[in-house]
Amino acid sequence: MFDEQIDHYINSVPVSTGYPEADDYVSNYMRSNTVDEYLNLIKNAKESLSIPVIPSINCYTSGGWTGFAKNIAEAGADALEINVFFLPVDRKKTAAESEKIYLDLIEKLKKTIKIPIAVKIGFRFSNILNIIDQFYMRGVSGVVMFNRFYEPDIDLNRIDMIPASIFSSEAEMRYVLRWVGMASAQDIKIDISASTGVHSGNDAIKYLLAGANSVQVCSVLYSRGLSYLRNMNREIEDWMDLKGFSSVNDFRGRLNYRNYIKPVIYERTQFMKYFATED
Ligand SMILES: Cc1cc2nc3c(=O)[nH]c(=O)nc-3n(C[C@H](O)[C@H](O)[C@H](O)COP(=O)(O)O)c2cc1C
Repeated sequence: MFDEQIDHYINSVPVSTGYPEADDYVSNYMRSNTVDEYLNLIKNAKESLSIPVIPSINCYTSGGWTGFAKNIAEAGADALEINVFFLPVDRKKTAAESEKIYLDLIEKLKKTIKIPIAVKIGFRFSNILNIIDQFYMRGVSGVVMFNRFYEPDIDLNRIDMIPASIFSSEAEMRYVLRWVGMASAQDIKIDISASTGVHSGNDAIKYLLAGANSVQVCSVLYSRGLSYLRNMNREIEDWMDLKGFSSVNDFRGRLNYRNYIKPVIYERTQFMKYFATED
């Protein structure tokens, strides 16, 4: 659900046709469209599922819509994920000013709803560990690392702008693994959900070993269909059997920044040493 949709829902002004019945119809139609459907989806999902139901809102504005989060909680949601990204396009604005928009939004939401809040972020922060700490101090329960945004590309033949590849590749896990490993090793109680590049059960295992509490899967389900989840779960179970683990907790975080024997591997960013010849 996009915050623009919610804003529209809240602010929709009935257009007068001069016929009260028609006015009612128009205003009801505008108001009830997608947003009501979404609330119903949450209610129905809660009634028919035994797993937690966590709706997600894409936040592009700083939150006139936050009161609506109450409706989401009342519809039975177990938690709310906010997928927040304010593209920094103003060169006069500092990183701290940009971050404040996230923090203000979280504070507003925390005052409005009691259910846990997860924040889904992109990886372009000057200090990811600090921003997660700031979330935690404001009562955020989980962080989703990371969203993979729509990006532009260039078509050289047509000399035109086009969307960059919509779906992720497995290789993109490289931008995420370090931060999952480091964030999960902090001395704070915040759940980490790893997102980007999970295309197999083995990819999910890597994030769990790095300390993720859960992983999210998107691109591969578009390309292979939802039933592929079964294969992924089987792959995880096979690996666990092979290694003698009976529960995810037996190995979760085993290779994170705190538990791995050589944490310096998480800190290395340059290839220089790697290519140096050994004497
Ligand atoms: C077609 C498509 C639609 C998406 N829509 C949303 C969305 O509505 N909200 C959201 O938080 N993320 C959205 N995402 C991002 C995914 O949730 C996910 O964070 C990203 O694709 C990385 O995971 P993946 O490598 O498994 O695809 C979308 C991704 C794709 C490819």
